[in-house]
Amino acid sequence: MRTVFGVFGDPIAHSRSPDMHNAAFRELGMECSYHAFRVSPSKLRDALLGAKAMGFGGVNLTVPLKQEALKIVDADPLAASIGAINTVDFKEEMRGYNTDGTGAKRTLEEKGVMIANSRVLIVGAGGASRAIAFQFAKDGADITIANRTAGKAIELASDVSAVGIASGCGLENLKGLIADSDILINCTTLGMHPHTEGTIATAQDMHPGLTVFDIVYNPLETRLVKEAKKAGAKAVTGEMMLIYQGAEAFKIWTGVEPPIDVMKKAVLEGF
Ligand code: ATR
Repeated sequence: MRTVFGVFGDPIAHSRSPDMHNAAFRELGMECSYHAFRVSPSKLRDALLGAKAMGFGGVNLTVPLKQEALKIVDADPLAASIGAINTVDFKEEMRGYNTDGTGAKRTLEEKGVMIANSRVLIVGAGGASRAIAFQFAKDGADITIANRTAGKAIELASDVSAVGIASGCGLENLKGLIADSDILINCTTLGMHPHTEGTIATAQDMHPGLTVFDIVYNPLETRLVKEAKKAGAKAVTGEMMLIYQGAEAFKIWTGVEPPIDVMKKAVLEGF
């Protein structure tokens, strides 16, 4: 009998996770399948208990369920400090993890970018920013979080300070902050389809030693990524974070390292 995996969220129709995970299961000859399920926050408890009772191998959670899951699932320490769960494992009790930060970390490491001791500027203070800021602070980076609503950046930085070095501010001095950074990460929705002209920075704000990582992957090459290339900076596109957060979840559930190239091909075919 096949072991079933899934992603719960709402909306969920456009999730690329089923194609990505099913391609990996096929490649490895594993008797498993992965499906998308539309689940609202008020039904999350029932859905998780049902999935566990039916012998699911594990599930991913996406918007708007990641925070709600903390009330239901036993979170590992990193997910608990981030305040969001994107991966649930059913092997023993229900255990929750957050692989968004590790996904971002692997994305940069695979490109040869060092995180420890680097000066990282994260623009945006939503869920993605939170996961990356905690992971990178834990890994020894010096984090600055800049956000349109400065109060949210200051609050997030204060939480992150529990595990590492972090400060928060508004966007007024973004150019100066970029000049003082090794890594710039866009965690805002600026540049996302259909507003593809939006960008947090242009080429003239950047320097050649800078790594620019845009977590937006729709379009694949955002305006920010184009600007980074123009400036001679190292540009890193967002689809790899999607792939690596999925790969980390796959490992938690199965103990197996999935084939990244196969997952990437499946994700890119969906564009
Ligand atoms: P996610 O969970 O994917 O991180 P989110 O929680 O909706 O997304 O956060 C979106 C981020 O994009 C926020 O930091 C938001 O800034 P505010 O906190 O001030 O709302 C940022 N953002 C969205 N539109 C923006 C814009 N036009 N200019 C600057 N920042 C923007």
